[in-house]
Amino acid sequence: CGAADGKPMKQRLLVVANRLPVSAVRLGEDSWSLDISAGGLVSALLGVRDVDAKWIGWAGVNVPDEVGQRALTKALAEKRCIPVFLDEEIVHQYYNGYCNNILWPLFHYLGLPQEDRLATTRSFQSQFDAYKKANQMFADVVNQHYEDGDVVWCHDYHLMFLPKCLKDFDSKMKVGWFLHTPFPSSEIHRTLPSRSELLRSVLAADLVGFHTYDYARHFVSACTRILGLEGTPEGVEDQGKLTRVAAFPIGIDSERFKRALEFPAVKVHINELKQRFTGRKVMLGVDRLDMIKGIPQKILAFEKFLEENPAWRDKVVLLQIAVPTRTDVPEYQKLTSQVHEIVGRINGRFGTLTAVPIHHLDRSLDFHALCALYAVTDVALVTSLRDGMNLVSYEFVACQGAKKGVLILSEFAGAAQSLGAGALLVNPWNITEVANSIAYALNMPADEREKRHRHNYAHVTTHTAQDWAETFVSELNDTVVEAQLRTRQ
Ligand code: G6P
Repeated sequence: CGAADGKPMKQRLLVVANRLPVSAVRLGEDSWSLDISAGGLVSALLGVRDVDAKWIGWAGVNVPDEVGQRALTKALAEKRCIPVFLDEEIVHQYYNGYCNNILWPLFHYLGLPQEDRLATTRSFQSQFDAYKKANQMFADVVNQHYEDGDVVWCHDYHLMFLPKCLKDFDSKMKVGWFLHTPFPSSEIHRTLPSRSELLRSVLAADLVGFHTYDYARHFVSACTRILGLEGTPEGVEDQGKLTRVAAFPIGIDSERFKRALEFPAVKVHINELKQRFTGRKVMLGVDRLDMIKGIPQKILAFEKFLEENPAWRDKVVLLQIAVPTRTDVPEYQKLTSQVHEIVGRINGRFGTLTAVPIHHLDRSLDFHALCALYAVTDVALVTSLRDGMNLVSYEFVACQGAKKGVLILSEFAGAAQSLGAGALLVNPWNITEVANSIAYALNMPADEREKRHRHNYAHVTTHTAQDWAETFVSELNDTVVEAQLRTRQ
């Protein structure tokens, strides 16, 4: 098809995710300040070649009045974003409750919250109802903006009910769904009271994607064992309708990191950090302050390393950037106190009047400060107990062109599948193993470091976020045709 000026019209892509890539601050009754996140995922999704993408999601703020909603909608439109307005009660039940207190821990094999297991069980139904209601609210916004020929790409565990809502509205809509977390073993998934409804709803999509082959396999097993459907090499078949299921490992925009290291301000920062930590090896952790990231396990392993290697005590420092997240959820509040307690104890035990072994920061860093930190790091520590992919490990590798530092990586992060040959893989639950890996990494000969780094660098720089997004969208386009053909047979 062509536009009036003769140029071919770009295909429209509607990206639907719980959260818009913005932070919105209200300045007045009808004015907003917007800070757009410039992360790799955003540029990948908004930068897919020959596609005109728009982002639909929650702006992360409560806007009860129409004046504020209209003004925010207008401001966001300039950034190719469309808001879904969720009130406080829905956010509490859907986002804090069902998404972050039930699905998130379950998909990461952490089960339901330990202390209020019964309370959670009791409030389960109302939270699931709110989840479905919220998903329908996202669907309503998609439907208002959808035009024939658009492709709709739904993201993550917040929106498992969305594919069905969209197909109920228009069965010809091309719908893809991608999960950014692990999909757990079917034995874990089957404990969810809403297990079948969620699976059936995801299966309404034309293409279902995961970061790794294992997650895709778990999903297909859940559909065969729980729903009794047929799993095929291509996906899941239900009465002639094929839902294609496949792995699409995400990447980063590695060029953006490499470019940043050339900025004069970043170079100045790198030199400052080098001076600040002269005579000490720098170990780095960068995580959202989330129980899946294994931060207490990492710090306890570092303590064990210091215990067993007294000669290293004044020659190494661990910098832990712990970005606060989901602070309204009690489990996250408990984790923050727990981490502070452990860090305080270890610094009290091994610190001196002039230096402490752990610098723990409860905040995020801006992009340039982060790149500088990655560049001066000797050993990065990623100890996730489970993690869909973990792009911190990719970002670290992208910034290590000069230093060729070592990556210690949890075998339970999706990234272990792609960076496993270059990283030192560890089981984060085994503190002795992690402590030994720290010692091994700090003493690793230069030729081994280079060889390992070369492997990882080649992977990170050739499997980009843009490739990931383009592959998914192109396969979604093809898959729909295929699925329609099959249903017509
Ligand atoms: C994970 C999820 C994302 C989510 C992010 C931040 O990476 O897969 O969907 O946006 O965490 O969490 P938040 O709850 O702040 O959106």
